[in-house]
Amino acid sequence: SCVRDNSLVRDISQMPQSSYGIEGLSHITVAGALNHGMKEVEVWLQTISPGQRTPIHRHSCEEVFTVLKGKGTLLMGSSSLKYPGQPQEIPFFQNTTFSIPVNDPHQVWNSDEHEDLQVLVIISRPPAKIFLYDDWSMPHTAAVLKFPFVWDEDCFEAAKEQL
Ligand SMILES: *[C@@H]1O[C@H](CO)[C@@H](O)[C@H](O)[C@H]1NC(C)=O
Repeated sequence: SCVRDNSLVRDISQMPQSSYGIEGLSHITVAGALNHGMKEVEVWLQTISPGQRTPIHRHSCEEVFTVLKGKGTLLMGSSSLKYPGQPQEIPFFQNTTFSIPVNDPHQVWNSDEHEDLQVLVIISRPPAKIFLYDDWSMPHTAAVLKFPFVWDEDCFEAAKEQL
């Protein structure tokens, strides 16, 4: 179901929260293009269960994320090879903030076995155009665009005309 609310003041505890079919994920669009009329940036609050990973992905927008709770490992592939390649593993902790370069393939992994990982994510140029990789050796040209992304599907038709 699509909840659209362009009001000045909102309460995240009243916002839809779901896994959108991704195991071990809980996602809230705190301020979004489709849900809240944002034009230039979008903000997400996400919780990833112990041991879970996001898909390997890239996007042509900027992304900043800050770790509010927990710790984990960021896996960063290359955008200069034909495929992501052997990823660099960067451990992170509470308060770590990453600026992910445009088009760099990456994966966020809650490598902790016990604690949830909670991150606040800011992206530019919403709604997100996310390209998914099966593995680190898949060529960039073979990565598949999933658009609208899973949490944008419900509001995409209703909000299309405002994009
Ligand atoms: C993160 O920042 C908060 C607020 O400044 C602080 O209380 C906390 O100890 C920090 N966490 C770590 C792991 O440094």
